[in-house]
Amino acid sequence: MVVSSPNNRNRFVIFVLATAVVALALFFFSRFEPGLREYLNPRMGSHAAAEDNLVNIPKLILWALLAFLGVRAVNTTIFDFVFRIRRGYEAPALVRNIFSMVAFTILFLLIFNRIYSQVNLGALFTTSAIFGVVIGLALQDTLGNFFAGISLHADRPFQVGDVIVVGQQKYTGVVESINWRAIKIRTFQNHIVLVSNSIAAKEAIEVGPRDNLNARLVFFSTVYTDSPAKTIHVVREAVRDADNVSEKITPIVRIRNLGESSLEWEIKYWLQDYAKYNDTDALVRQRTWYALRRNGLTFAFPTRTLHLERKVAARPTTAEDEIADRLSAVDVFAPLSTDELRQLAMATVGHVFAPGETLIRAGDDGSSMFVVHNGRVQVQVTDSGKARPVAVLSEGNFFGEMALFTGEPRTASVVALEETEVLEIGHAAMKHLFETNPSLAESISWTIAERRAGLAASAEQAAPDSIAESAGLLASIKRFFSLH
Ligand code: CMP
Repeated sequence: MVVSSPNNRNRFVIFVLATAVVALALFFFSRFEPGLREYLNPRMGSHAAAEDNLVNIPKLILWALLAFLGVRAVNTTIFDFVFRIRRGYEAPALVRNIFSMVAFTILFLLIFNRIYSQVNLGALFTTSAIFGVVIGLALQDTLGNFFAGISLHADRPFQVGDVIVVGQQKYTGVVESINWRAIKIRTFQNHIVLVSNSIAAKEAIEVGPRDNLNARLVFFSTVYTDSPAKTIHVVREAVRDADNVSEKITPIVRIRNLGESSLEWEIKYWLQDYAKYNDTDALVRQRTWYALRRNGLTFAFPTRTLHLERKVAARPTTAEDEIADRLSAVDVFAPLSTDELRQLAMATVGHVFAPGETLIRAGDDGSSMFVVHNGRVQVQVTDSGKARPVAVLSEGNFFGEMALFTGEPRTASVVALEETEVLEIGHAAMKHLFETNPSLAESISWTIAERRAGLAASAEQAAPDSIAESAGLLASIKRFFSLH
């Protein structure tokens, strides 16, 4: 018996007390039985059978109670201890109930036979055949459920924790328990549905086992002018690092149909936790939306909508003035003239990222920097396999300048904390600015030196000397951009 929790402890104490009371009652009963019989004998006279019953029935009841308590003790020992330790999960309620019923019936018959040794049980069973038929008919449904439950257990088509789809109404949910009457599932609306075993035994059941890599399909369509190879690459990369998408199998993006007005696609991906497939489907669709948009790919809709989508795609995400405004608020661009800011604004490309998406991955090559237009991003370094935040950057901050200006790999990863729009500035646009604004390279080299110091501090390394560092950086930026 598991005696750890207070609840279990109470049950244990009650059990021991009940057993002690019944055992004591039996003890006294057997001591006083001869006396009782002596007392009854002269009074009952010719009713010897009645006298027998007066003594035997309480005895039978007390022994039956003791047998019941004994069966419970064995049941708990086997199923709570042995099952949990040897098999690692709780025994199904149905198995426990059947065990108790069979053990108790056998014990009861043995006790009965001992006390009423003159009664022929075989004959009793034969004569009660009609009674059995009556009971059988009355309990038809219950017995049907019971036997269907037994066959479900023998088959083990699913277990507690698996997701199943069952019944004509296609109830979908996580299996909470399977007992002698019904399967209890918790639907994704947090309702409980009880499907009786006999119905479940007749219907097809779809099972998503808990410890299995279950797949899902998500559909979308693109216009015929979009490149299939590019779509496959872009969508696959966007989906594979979404939460709950298994890393064990790379998602598959494939053309499902050449539709009348669009390329029809399906994404097949595998889940870590199948019970969360609704959320993960939604996240996969969201990632697809952002990825298509960032890469100039277009969702296809019926002709009328297609036309509207084209208009949206042709228009820049943000007006140029607004971009120039944003750039003018970036500290290192402060020395630029209005004209230069406008030119820079024209050279930038806008991208939108979903919350949780990675904008820059540490170690990748990079030839552009980014200004945060809306939203927030987190700069992270990986420390023994775990992401550690270094800084949070918001509107008007920039990142990605280190790789762009030094030619080295990305020093950190940058992840969107919310929906984030960034402005990408490439190598060519910066080179042009450096030529007309020599002070720009210097102020950027300061920022880089400071950030390197930040990285060193977060890695608990000695910080480099900022002045010497920025002078060295300036020289290497000039070299890298072939400036004089
Ligand atoms: P880059 O190395 O190209 O890519 C990762 C970017 O993270 C890096 O450029 C910087 O823009 C940014 N970054 C690195 N370290 C810091 C820091 N300590 N504080 C703010 N931003 C940083």
